[in-house]
Amino acid sequence: MELHLENVPRSVELTRSSGVTAFRYIDQRLLPDDLNVVETSEWHDVVDAIKVLAVRGAPAIGLAGAAALALWAAQADRFDDVEVVASEIATARPTAVNLQWAVDRALSEIEGVPESEIAATLFDLVKRMEAEDEAANRAIGANGAALLGPGTRVLTHCNAGSLATGYYGTALGIVYSAAEQGNIERVYADETRPVGQGARLTVWELSRAGVPVTLICDDMAASLMAKGKVDAVIVGADRIARNGDAANKIGTYGVAILAREHGIPFYVAAPFSTVDAALADGSGIVIEQRDACEVLPLPIEGVDVWNPAFDVTPARLITKIVTEKGAFSPEELASQL
Ligand code: MRU
Repeated sequence: MELHLENVPRSVELTRSSGVTAFRYIDQRLLPDDLNVVETSEWHDVVDAIKVLAVRGAPAIGLAGAAALALWAAQADRFDDVEVVASEIATARPTAVNLQWAVDRALSEIEGVPESEIAATLFDLVKRMEAEDEAANRAIGANGAALLGPGTRVLTHCNAGSLATGYYGTALGIVYSAAEQGNIERVYADETRPVGQGARLTVWELSRAGVPVTLICDDMAASLMAKGKVDAVIVGADRIARNGDAANKIGTYGVAILAREHGIPFYVAAPFSTVDAALADGSGIVIEQRDACEVLPLPIEGVDVWNPAFDVTPARLITKIVTEKGAFSPEELASQL
């Protein structure tokens, strides 16, 4: 199989042209039908893009958050409300720790920096963070690929690909790296109800990259495993606690239980910016509740909807957490912090 990553576009990028700073992003809501690249110089637009899932995926929203602060600084004539702006950006979505992490990193970068240099400092930082994220994903890819043998059939849930990150992807970074070594036979993508990140994004990205991909409904994963068609499950993460409990897209926990039942290794791929060192375990992870219309577009009188966007997979169901520093058992993770 020949990999064609050149067909996978960058999903987020801070740019500067003729002295104008802008944030460029793929509106992921429109994929796979339209590959629409939006450009804005308004920090509020970026916050909105994060809230409506036009930009989504934990590392991508972290980069977008830092970029929003850079856009604000590029237009600001006073800087005394930086904390207020930073807090509005950081709270656009609650579960992925990368957003708070990126905004905190931006704030500490400008501590003590003269006001006249804040915008340039933030621009440079965001460009550095974009490059670091891609480098981390390529390292995750290499570390994860080392766990996979020839002919591996992978099941993934949601989209933890290039679209969800600065580039290359976390879970799909492992797929790309293993595919380059000739070790991927096929990827099965859960459609990922209710938003459909698997059906709309993962299959689009993998097929553009030239990786054989089969779409399944979420409720088909058990049968697929029972038929012996899955060698490894690889998913991303939005927040990982110190003990290795990992929050990811709703449905991930169920897939982890199925993997355990069928004796299939379950790998979580994420950079250290996704690890929340302040959290002892997953019970403290705030789970975003989203609008009922994602589940039930036309309301039915008397019918209530529960729509959590994420769930927490307990560390005991995770075989390895694959990071840029290596692949660790959940118990080993804390020693790396
Ligand atoms: O709500 P989303 O689409 O932003 O959720 C993102 C995820 O949960 C993904 O599964 C992903 O694995 C984490 S980001 C690489």
